[in-house]
Amino acid sequence: MQQPTPLRSTGCSARTGLLTGIACLVVVCAVGASGCSRSRDDGPRSIHQYPQVDYTTGGDWYEHKLEQDPDQTGWVLLPEPTADVPYDSGVDPHTLGFVKPDVCAECHQEIYESFLETAHARTAQEARPENVLGSFAQGENRLSTRDPRLAFEMVRDEHGMRQCLEVRQDAATFAHEASIDLVTGSGNHGQTYLYWQGDALFQLPVSYFSELDRWVNSPGLYTDGTADFARGIGDRCLDCHATFFALAPGTFNRYDRQNYILGVTCVRCHGSGWAHVQYHQNHRDDVQPRYIVNPALLSSERGNEVCAQCHSGAGQLRQPAFSYRPGEPLADYIALDFSGDNVENDDPHAANQLARLMKSRCFSESRDMTCHTCHDPHRQERGDLALFGSRCATCHEQTDCGLSAELGEGITNRCVPCHMPSRRDNQGIIETADGHFLPLLRDHFIQAQPDATRPIVEALRLELQRPAAAGDDR
Ligand code: HEC
Ligand code: HEC
Ligand code: HEC
Ligand code: HEC
Ligand code: HEC
Ligand code: HEC
Ligand code: HEC
Repeated sequence: MQQPTPLRSTGCSARTGLLTGIACLVVVCAVGASGCSRSRDDGPRSIHQYPQVDYTTGGDWYEHKLEQDPDQTGWVLLPEPTADVPYDSGVDPHTLGFVKPDVCAECHQEIYESFLETAHARTAQEARPENVLGSFAQGENRLSTRDPRLAFEMVRDEHGMRQCLEVRQDAATFAHEASIDLVTGSGNHGQTYLYWQGDALFQLPVSYFSELDRWVNSPGLYTDGTADFARGIGDRCLDCHATFFALAPGTFNRYDRQNYILGVTCVRCHGSGWAHVQYHQNHRDDVQPRYIVNPALLSSERGNEVCAQCHSGAGQLRQPAFSYRPGEPLADYIALDFSGDNVENDDPHAANQLARLMKSRCFSESRDMTCHTCHDPHRQERGDLALFGSRCATCHEQTDCGLSAELGEGITNRCVPCHMPSRRDNQGIIETADGHFLPLLRDHFIQAQPDATRPIVEALRLELQRPAAAGDDR
C-alpha cells in the first residue's frame, strides 16, 4: 500500500474549523517537473474560499453563477502527519460476535453466494483495479475544475492506484498524491475512495458517479476548484458501510488496521454470529437454530430497526458505533429523527427509507409491514420493478388502483415508478465545474404522486391509442 508523499510544509500549524478532521493549510510549492510525486516549499500564499453563491434550482441541477474574481486562488488541505506507532486494539472481533461472511458459508452456502452479489456485500472493499469504477484511460482520467490552475489526475500503474493533484501557478507547480486504498459505494450510485495515512483514514477529494459515468468532486460539498485531502473518516461512516472497525480511543479517525471487516455483512442483521457458529460446529445434528437473530421473527418494529441503524439518516450516537445488536431497541443506541420530510433528511445521503415508509398508509394501515416485505436482503434484485410490483400484490389487487379501469394491464408492472418515484436528493450535493449534481434516490413514501405520475399516465394513454391509430392507417 503506497503512502502519500509527505509534504515538507511550513504552514502546518494553522488549523481550520471548516473540517471534521484536523487539517493543516498548505502552501504552494514550486517544482521543476510536473507530475505528482515530489514537492518543494516556495513560501506561503493566501487562502481564499470561493464566495458564497445563491443557488437556484434548474431541473435536476442546481445552477449558480460564480463571481469572476481575477485573484481567486483555490485552496489545498492536507492532513497533519500521523502517529508512527499504529494503533493495536488487541481486540479479536469474534469475541464481540463479528464474523466474516465466509465463516457462515460452511452451512449457508446458497445464501452466502447470492449475498456476495448484493450492494451490501460490495459497499466497502479493498481497492482493486477491477472494483474501482472510474476510468484511468488517457483523456478520461482527469478532473478539471473551474479553476484552470487546479486539476486532478487519476493514475494506475505498477505502484498502484492514486489521485494526483496538480496546481499550476505561473511557472510553479504544486503536486500531491494519495493512494486509493478503500472503496465505498457499490457503484449503484457511485463510489467514494478512502486512503490510509498510517492508521488514520481519510476521504479522497475525487469520487466517481455512475449516472454521469465520470470522476467528480466528492459529495458532501467538496468545493470545486479546491483540493481537500484532510477529511477524516469517522466511525459512524464505517458503522453504515462496514461490519466492524476498532477506533483508537479519543481519536476521530485512527483505526486498528489488523482486524476490520468491510461491507455490510450477515452479522449486522443477524446479531453476534460467533456463538451460533461455535455451537453448530459442535452440534452438527441439531437443526434448531441457536444464538442467532432472524429479523423475520422479531416484532415488525424491532425488525425494521435492524435496517434503520443505517437507513434512517445518521442520527446522534448514544453508544459507540458498532455496539447495537439486532433485536435490541435501537433508540438506546442512536437517536433518529423520524419526521422524515425529504428536504429535512438527516443526511449523510441516506434517503431516510424507514421514516418515509412510516408516512405511508401502506405502513400505518397494515399490521406488519417491514423492509423485508419487499426486499430479500440476500439477493440482488435491483432494477426488477416487475418483481417489486408483485410484492405490492401481496396486499393489493391491481383494481385497487384508481387508474386500473382506464389503463388496464398497462399498470401491471409499473406500480413502483408511479407510487415510489425516484427523486433528486437535495442534500447529497456534488459540485462540478459547471453546476451541481444531485443523486437520484427512491422515495419510500408510497402514495399517489401526481407530478411523477403525469408523464407515465400520458405515455400509457398514447400506448393505448396507438393500435387504433395503426388501424386508421391501414
Ligand atoms: C456449522 C454450521 C453453521 C454455521 C457455520 C452457521 N450456521 Fe446459521 N444455522 C445453522 C443451523 C443448523 C441452523 C438451523 C437450520 C436452518 O435454519 O438452516 C441455522 C440457522 C440460521 C438462521 C435462521 C435462524 C432462525 O431463527 O430462523 C440464521 C439467521 C443463521 N443461521 C445465520 C447464520 C450466520 C449469520 C452465520 C455466520 C455468522 C451462520 N448462520 C453460520 C448452522 C450454521
Ligand atoms: C450496517 C448498515 C446497513 C444495514 C444494517 C442495512 N443496510 Fe441496506 N444499505 C446499506 C448501505 C451502506 C447501502 C448502500 C450500498 C451501496 O450501494 O453502496 C445499502 C443499500 C441497500 C439497498 C439498495 C440495494 C440495491 O441494490 O438497490 C437496499 C434495498 C437495502 N439496503 C435494504 C436494507 C434492508 C431491507 C435492511 C434490513 C434488513 C438493510 N438494508 C440493512 C447499509 C445497511
Ligand atoms: C441486510 C440485512 C441482512 C444481511 C446482510 C443478511 N441477512 Fe440473512 N436475513 C435477513 C432478513 C431480514 C431475514 C428474514 C427474511 C425473511 O424471512 O423474510 C434473513 C433470513 C436469514 C436466514 C433464515 C431464513 C432463510 O432464508 O433461510 C438465514 C439462514 C440467513 N438470513 C443467513 C444469512 C447469512 C449467512 C448472511 C450472510 C452471508 C445473511 N443472512 C446476510 C437480513 C440479512
Ligand atoms: C447512516 C448511515 C450512513 C452513513 C453514516 C454514511 N452512509 Fe454512505 N450510504 C448509506 C446508504 C443507506 C447508502 C445508499 C443510498 C441511500 O439509500 O441513500 C449510501 C451510499 C453511499 C455511497 C454511494 C453513492 C451515493 O451517494 O449513494 C457512497 C460512495 C457512500 N455512501 C459513502 C459514504 C461515506 C464515505 C461516508 C462517511 C464519510 C458515508 N457514506 C456515511 C448510509 C450511510
Ligand atoms: C403489507 C401490505 C401492503 C403492501 C405490501 C403494500 N401496501 Fe399499499 N396499502 C396497504 C394498506 C393497508 C393501505 C391503506 C388501505 C388501502 O388503500 O387499501 C395501502 C394504501 C396504498 C395506497 C394509497 C395511499 C394513499 O395515500 O391514499 C397506494 C397508492 C398504495 N398502497 C400503493 C402500494 C404500492 C405501489 C405497493 C408496492 C410498492 C404497496 N402499496 C404495497 C398495504 C400494503
Ligand atoms: C412496499 C415495498 C417496499 C418496502 C416496504 C420497502 N422498500 Fe425499499 N424499495 C422498494 C422498491 C420498489 C425500490 C426500488 C428498487 C429498484 O429500483 O430496483 C426500493 C429501493 C430501496 C433502496 C435503494 C434506494 C435507491 O434509490 O438506490 C433502499 C436503500 C431501500 N429500498 C431500503 C429500504 C428499507 C431500509 C426499507 C424498510 C424501512 C424498505 N426499503 C422498505 C420497495 C420497498
Ligand atoms: C400510471 C401511474 C400509475 C400506475 C402504473 C399505478 N398507479 Fe396506482 N394510482 C395512480 C394514481 C394517479 C392514483 C390516484 C388516482 C385516483 O385517486 O383516482 C392511484 C391510486 C392507487 C391506490 C389508492 C386507491 C384509493 O382508492 O385510495 C392504490 C392502492 C394503488 N394506486 C395501487 C397501485 C398498484 C398496486 C399498482 C400496480 C399494480 C398501481 N397502483 C399502479 C397512479 C398509478
